[in-house]
Amino acid sequence: MARITLRQLLDDAAERGYGVPAFNINNMEQGLAIMEAAQAVDAPVILQASRGARSYAGDIMLAKMVEALEATYPHIPLCLHQDHGNDEATCASAIRHGFTSVMMDGSLKADAKTPADYGYNVDITRRVVDLAHWVGASVEGELGVLGSLEAGGGEQEDGHGVVGEVSHDQLLTDPDEAVDFVRATKVDALAIAMGTSHGAYKFSRKPDGEILAMHVIEEIHRRLPDVHLVMHGSSSVPQDLQDLFNAHGGAMPQTWGVPVEEIVRGIRHGVRKVNIDTDCRLAMTAMFRKVADGNRGEFDPRKFLKPAMDALQKLCRERFEQFGTAGNAARIKVVPLAEMALRYRSGGLDPRVAGMATAAE
Ligand code: G3H
Ligand code: 13P
Ligand code: ZN
Repeated sequence: MARITLRQLLDDAAERGYGVPAFNINNMEQGLAIMEAAQAVDAPVILQASRGARSYAGDIMLAKMVEALEATYPHIPLCLHQDHGNDEATCASAIRHGFTSVMMDGSLKADAKTPADYGYNVDITRRVVDLAHWVGASVEGELGVLGSLEAGGGEQEDGHGVVGEVSHDQLLTDPDEAVDFVRATKVDALAIAMGTSHGAYKFSRKPDGEILAMHVIEEIHRRLPDVHLVMHGSSSVPQDLQDLFNAHGGAMPQTWGVPVEEIVRGIRHGVRKVNIDTDCRLAMTAMFRKVADGNRGEFDPRKFLKPAMDALQKLCRERFEQFGTAGNAARIKVVPLAEMALRYRSGGLDPRVAGMATAAE
């Protein structure tokens, strides 16, 4: 059994200079494909479940499924993470169901649509850090509102995210505020806003520095060299998957995601967790279309799901290799949650904050 916390995993990633993709899961097929890819290249894994995933599969089903994945792949360190927790209750119930890490997204209010002010974000994130660290679980916070610098707002493609127009400033994490936020909340990882957004329609052209503000990551990393940074909305929306989807009856307008080489650049500047959902969805769904198109009489779901799992496995394997995650699983000795709790309580995980304070001055 190898259930690892986000903090331990990202500490290892920082020490060795790699990044870890965090893949969203909703069902067994996604879980098996991701774990199979991890096993093939010896990569540690972050599986993350959104609130939508939890209500789709149900908490008990999801928890038991991850237990089964853990038993099937006992040598792969596996972090189970709550994606975009909206309040304390979501984060606490996730931990109760075996999540070793939670995201408290206080950049938005609990409705997950309305931008929250800085004070609200600090207070709620700090409260979640207190409760999570008490049991050894990790916390990711978010500062700045995710959304498109091109469109000047959030996207509602997934049914969540900021609604309406947001100022350019709100869409970019402020480095000074980031220093203060990490000090005040003691989060284990910090998600930042720099022009990425959820879903397939991130950019209307190949992104440059105007619309994908990598310089924000570099500046925050300069100020907070020991803090683990998180990139959301980091699907690359590969052209070959768009083409496959469209070749078999799909209607996806041409779009651009985050180029893998930009993510790799981010990893060189402190990005340790890279959130990917859309690419996984597209890899599977393009394959559903291909199978349906190629054999219109087919009605066995497994004939759709198996090739879709293979496509997802291929995508995950590529990301593990591109981000340097591959080759690190066997070496990691998982620290149990209870031991992590003791380390937080004894202040054993605090020197990072002290070091950070010096770096910020
Ligand atoms: O947070 C964004 C992820 O893509 C999750 O999406 O809420 O539709 O599961 P979802
Ligand atoms: P994508 O939509 O780019 O895959 O982003 C997923 C994400 O950030 C989940 O939190
Ligand atoms: Zn996200």
